[in-house]
Amino acid sequence: IMSTASLPASVEALSLQSTAQTSQFPGCFPTLNPMDIYREHIAEELGKAAGIDAQKIYPRIVWTSTLDKGDLSLPVASLQIKQNPVELAKDLVSKFPASDLIHPPTQLGAHIQFFCKRQPLTSNVLGRVLKEKAAYGTNGNQGQKDPSDPSKGQKKIIIEFSSPNIAKPFHAGHLRSTIIGGFLANIYTVMGWNVIKMNYLGDWGKQYGLLANGFKDYGNEEALIRDPINHLFDVYVKINRQVSEQDGPIKELKEQIKTKKEKNEDVAELEAQLAKLVDVSEDEKARRYFKSMEDGDPEALALWRKFRDLSIEKYKQTYARLNIDFDVYSGESQIKSESMSDAYKLMEEAGVSEKSEGAVIVDFTKHGAKKLGKAIIIRKDGTPLYLTRDIGAITERDNEYHFDKMIYVVAAQQDLHLAQLFKVTELMGHKDLASRCQHINFGMVRGMSTRKGTVKFLDDILRDVGDKMHEVMKKNEVKYSQVEDPEKTADILGITSVMVQDMTGKRVNGYDFNLDAMTSFEGDTGPYLQYAHARLCSMARKSELNVDELVNANFDLLTEQHAVDLVRLLAQWPDVLLQTAKTLEPITVLSYLFRMTHMLSSSYDVLKVIGSEPDVKQARMALYASARQVLNNGMRVLGLSPVERM
Ligand code: ARG
Repeated sequence: IMSTASLPASVEALSLQSTAQTSQFPGCFPTLNPMDIYREHIAEELGKAAGIDAQKIYPRIVWTSTLDKGDLSLPVASLQIKQNPVELAKDLVSKFPASDLIHPPTQLGAHIQFFCKRQPLTSNVLGRVLKEKAAYGTNGNQGQKDPSDPSKGQKKIIIEFSSPNIAKPFHAGHLRSTIIGGFLANIYTVMGWNVIKMNYLGDWGKQYGLLANGFKDYGNEEALIRDPINHLFDVYVKINRQVSEQDGPIKELKEQIKTKKEKNEDVAELEAQLAKLVDVSEDEKARRYFKSMEDGDPEALALWRKFRDLSIEKYKQTYARLNIDFDVYSGESQIKSESMSDAYKLMEEAGVSEKSEGAVIVDFTKHGAKKLGKAIIIRKDGTPLYLTRDIGAITERDNEYHFDKMIYVVAAQQDLHLAQLFKVTELMGHKDLASRCQHINFGMVRGMSTRKGTVKFLDDILRDVGDKMHEVMKKNEVKYSQVEDPEKTADILGITSVMVQDMTGKRVNGYDFNLDAMTSFEGDTGPYLQYAHARLCSMARKSELNVDELVNANFDLLTEQHAVDLVRLLAQWPDVLLQTAKTLEPITVLSYLFRMTHMLSSSYDVLKVIGSEPDVKQARMALYASARQVLNNGMRVLGLSPVERM
């Protein structure tokens, strides 16, 4: 077991298996995953008994979604043997030899179900969980470039997520990206990848010229330092109001000129008037300011950099509340113009881009991608666009990081944008690069606003939800008085509420932001999950048993069906993590954790700790302590901070 200081706060340990111990089956790690012992055993025994290549059987043995279907199952049709699958299943079941590890298998239709024998499973699973703790379930081998040669190092992944726009609200889309991205970073970390967490800020463009000018009129140094995000937004709103006020007369003049022209009347005077209006307009001033930023004017850049630095500092505080720290703060401003012009050259050479009314465009419909339409690459005035910067960024990142994989966590509203980005990359001749990139998208959150109904800054939302949880906590005076830092706990519970609601359901589905539902203790909510963890902690405190000695408990005493099923569920955790690495869906972890909390609630009356004989008490506490550990591991992978009291 390796524990590394460089892991994110949310995941603390990582298990690695030395190559000497690997199994004859690829991807089988019996010292890391208890179920691999059983898969290995079944494949070998069944292979011998039925004369089938064990290598063929092994990958076909799957875990089950509910325990009544067995601990493992083999859909025999997948073996691709020319025989009626039901007959084959019957045949294989009859041939399976007696085993110390599993009960005689059962045939159900074309499936064979395997149930583990109680004692070996219990001592194996509980022994591991109590010893490996945070590392239980992790598998550092998954991220090895070459699992048989550790000197080749880890695979590298860039996860780009959150990516808010400076001076604009951090909206629900950014929140979802942050939650899902943080979760993905944890999953890849516990699978042994070298993870680079990148924030690609919206920090460049004419609007930052507008903001800088606006700051001269409406800004305040002190307010900027105190609360940069809110203050900059404030300035942004005010200066934009001015822009739209000026917009009216300008539009009016343009109309007048148009009608006069149609009547062939002289418009010289009106045009001069218009030019004057435009010249002093905030919009034009912003354009000029931004131009000076693009030209590298140090003074113009200094103010912009100050906004950016202060905003990042503030973002960092908010991210810390969500257990996230970024390795890189990149952004649209960081993309070199050479990267973009190199890309134009490649596009031109490859015959991908074309001139159209003074602009440069890519017409995807001509390149086998009808659905992607057309995209502008360079505007008429020669300036690049959002897409152009992303094209520059993708190659820059490839050159700088040499990643094995890159994930963009961005709302489904930008499906087209990312599809165009990947397609252009491919058409430019970087087919391999495009194939290493993936867009992880998600649906919209509806109705996210503060209680006052005002603009939706993340900090305000989190404060609101935290306040609500604080009110709930205060209702139980005795418990409340025992919580060390109630404010902090309320904050964590609030954040958990928001995050669990976000992770309930598949990513592509949107949902309604519902403060009452998410903070409820009824149903599968964040507070309920935290409560389940806190209750197990409380049980451990009240038992007054030494946690370090629980591993020596007599596990044979755990004979009740409730205990057996709980152990079987704990045995699945490493498989759940592996499965999650495939689905990349938080719900894969979350629904497992709720299955466990439901099982726990129905066990407390049956498997009492207090009042039981000392050896039974110790064995049951070992079971509950193991459940707490796995619950804790799962919550941390999701990016939650499990609380010990609430
Ligand atoms: N800043 C963008 C927005 O708020 C999201 C950036 C997504 N990432 C990217 N590489 N385009 O819409």
